Amino acid sequence: MPPLNEIVDQLNLLRQQAEKELSFIDTTEKLEAFRIKYFGRASGALTALFKTLSGLSPEDRAVFGKAANLAKEQLHDLLENKTIELKSKTAAVPAAGIVDITLPGRSMPQGHAHPISRVLAEVVSIFTTMGFSIAEGPEIELDYYNFEALNMPEDHPARDMQDTFYLPGGFLLRTQTSPVQIRTMEKSKPPVSIIAPGRVFRRDWDITHTPMFHQVEGLLVDKGVSMTHLKGVLEAFLKAFFGAGTKIRFRPSYFPFTEPSTEVDIGCIFCGGKGCRVCKTSGWLEILGAGMVHPEVFKKVKYDTDVYTGFAFGIGIERLAMLKYNINDLRMFFENDLRFLRQ
Ligand code: DAH
Repeated sequence: MPPLNEIVDQLNLLRQQAEKELSFIDTTEKLEAFRIKYFGRASGALTALFKTLSGLSPEDRAVFGKAANLAKEQLHDLLENKTIELKSKTAAVPAAGIVDITLPGRSMPQGHAHPISRVLAEVVSIFTTMGFSIAEGPEIELDYYNFEALNMPEDHPARDMQDTFYLPGGFLLRTQTSPVQIRTMEKSKPPVSIIAPGRVFRRDWDITHTPMFHQVEGLLVDKGVSMTHLKGVLEAFLKAFFGAGTKIRFRPSYFPFTEPSTEVDIGCIFCGGKGCRVCKTSGWLEILGAGMVHPEVFKKVKYDTDVYTGFAFGIGIERLAMLKYNINDLRMFFENDLRFLRQ
């Protein structure tokens, strides 16, 4: 009976030798010969070593059996890897004549823009075609721009309507894109005509509210601007976006930064105005808020209220996208379920 350390040495030697041989193998035929040499049932070198197990004492058998099994597994893994390697080589270099050049190519999966990005791009394109330019402002905003300068002082009840995320140091996440109006007017003299697309944030989460959503703000200031201009611009926009036959109605409303203020509805695109679940049987869908810029707002940016007037509007992008793509849960836009996005 050979001593344990002798057969363990033998095993290690065998393993080293096998690994070395394997590294030189470059054809499947050589690989098959290798397999037989080491793993063959009748005379494989590893098989032979395993046969010595039965001649060992139970303690030695346990030790050696473990080592031998480990070596066998490792060699087996190397053999598998080599098999894959050789297969991929032969696949990559096919013999001349067996490539069928008439096969159609494999098409790459095609991505596309998120529905929100698409609607945003379309809205921006309609307004820039009319001559508006694009303005931007920060998402982390000062209380002053988000509320104060928009005629919403600290104790104004309208602040309650906007569930604000407050940050330390007088900062907040902007609840609307309207602060960009103030930043724009502070920087430039009239005439001004801008739209400000961007993200806004509110503490809200249900089927029609998400804590982050998108708005497009609009502002036009010049001499002699009236409500008629506002109506004309919004009508042109809504017809471009929803179609030429869209019915439009202006309803009196209230915003602190505009006077007079209006909310704009379109005839329900789902029932044609007859009344359905989406329009809550009213036949109308609320689309945006707007109005003539409040003199208090002009005073904050030192525009002469005797000379200039202007209008402003704010559009919710998700709302437009829900209507355009007939989606009834706002949260679907942000869960990024690919099945939804691909539709
Ligand atoms: N900022 C308003 C909101 O988030 C929307 C809005 C209404 C913007 C009227 C305006 C406006 O510029 O004139 O609810």
